[in-house]
Amino acid sequence: MELERLVEERLLHSGLKPKEVNLRSILLELRAWLRPSVEGSGIVRTAGFDYTLIHPQYGEPYHSLTAGAVMECLQKFLMPSGILQRAKNIRRLRLLDVGFGLGYNVVVALKRLKDINPKLEIEVLSLDKELPENIPPPPEEFRELHGKILDSLPNFEGNGISLKLFIGDARKTIKEISSFKAHAVFHDAFSPYKNPELWSLQFLAEIKRLMRRDGVWVSYTSSLPVRKALKGLGFKLSSTTSLGRKRKGTRASLVGREELEEKERLKLFKSPYAIPLLDPDFSRKPIEILVDYRVRVELLKVAQGGVEPPTPRFSAVCSTN
Ligand SMILES: C[S@@+](CC[C@H](N)C(=O)[O-])C[C@H]1O[C@@H](n2cnc3c(N)ncnc32)[C@H](O)[C@@H]1O
Repeated sequence: MELERLVEERLLHSGLKPKEVNLRSILLELRAWLRPSVEGSGIVRTAGFDYTLIHPQYGEPYHSLTAGAVMECLQKFLMPSGILQRAKNIRRLRLLDVGFGLGYNVVVALKRLKDINPKLEIEVLSLDKELPENIPPPPEEFRELHGKILDSLPNFEGNGISLKLFIGDARKTIKEISSFKAHAVFHDAFSPYKNPELWSLQFLAEIKRLMRRDGVWVSYTSSLPVRKALKGLGFKLSSTTSLGRKRKGTRASLVGREELEEKERLKLFKSPYAIPLLDPDFSRKPIEILVDYRVRVELLKVAQGGVEPPTPRFSAVCSTN
């Protein structure tokens, strides 16, 4: 009922008349997005023979169950970020980690970076609103470092590594960070429709503020609203490999060329779903962000031709909200 009320209110605000829209299909779609994607909760074994957790409220695993937790860290985050190559030639590397979770992405990256260049100084800023209680240990190779980091949170210092975990809603804590310039961002929130507050245009603009111009943003998702927001912020996009049952991921950088396939570019231009999630002032509840998005999608569907106009630049989007 709450969902229905929110949709009706937002439709009224948009000027759409009830008979112009298919309220039932909007609600069905929203409910499908909100439904848990896997059953159960707690520790589970992945197809890669390591372990992860299923979050009871989001109904999603912290890592890919079909590819394996460490495999996902490597293939969706560390490899496409290009930092293993960069680590050979630099003295200091900065990593922004959105969604610390079990700490696997960070620990896998730290271990492999140190293997390549033991003298490398690494600064990590991690964001998470809460840490789970029973974090399963990662595979043997990463276990010692993982244990040391978990034992000393929210800060860890040692062996040329400095890690700081900001606990709280990342929309708030990110504002506390002023001078960080990341070589890479690992953006690993739960999926965009379940965890929309960490994928909005405004949140991604905050991430951009904390990146070097030649920094690389990577994530497991190829979601249209996320890609469209990144494009609106001036990023050049490419797809990363699909893994397990997950679709391709995304790599975004302010420099270099865009390397999307024709099919992907057309979808980003034509699909009514290719519009950013919006969260002006970071004041919306996740469900409000989602309902607002779905109603704007409906406006595009109803509009003749259903083709979206080009994404406005970020400044223009802000001024209309
Ligand atoms: C997919 S998990 C991250 C997995 C992690 N990268 C790892 O390697 O173990 C997503 C994380 O996003 C966090 N999260 C969700 N919403 C958040 C918010 N508004 N602010 C901060 N963290 C949030 C969750 O608590 C969860 O730990």
